[in-house]
Amino acid sequence: MVCLGNICRSPLADGILRKKVTTAALDVEVDSAGTASHHVGAAPDLRMQSTGRSFGYPINNLRARQFEEADFDHFDRIYVMDESNLTNVLQVARNDLDRSKVKLILNESHPGQNLEVPDPYYGGEQGFIDVFNLLDEATDIIINQLTHN
Ligand code: 4NP
Repeated sequence: MVCLGNICRSPLADGILRKKVTTAALDVEVDSAGTASHHVGAAPDLRMQSTGRSFGYPINNLRARQFEEADFDHFDRIYVMDESNLTNVLQVARNDLDRSKVKLILNESHPGQNLEVPDPYYGGEQGFIDVFNLLDEATDIIINQLTHN
């Protein structure tokens, strides 16, 4: 799960999918990263921690890290939140195999529409709830795919 800062959208996506993977007893590793380095080492934004907790997905233990080339070797799927994350991650890709792993996460729930998970950072509380609902829906579909693989 990749966003810009790894303090709002991708930690929530990580926390939701991590818990669903555990509940489904799947042997899948979930992690998150940001394309930028500014927040490396930081806990998720307190507003997103609160949103996650309120829906049953605590993310307070996660810490931001920066996306790196080695992530292409370690992970089979790399989900990005928006077009700018997509551009940034593809800049790190070395070959077609790397590029094939990268997807806009909302294309799982809204195929072919190239929708973005809006950055809630500068908005109000509803923006965080909207992000939760979008990611909850998309991660249900990912779990369904992983379960039937
Ligand atoms: P995120 O949100 O990419 O969902 O973690 C942001 C967090 C911080 C900033 C931008 C987006 N920032 O500019 O500091």
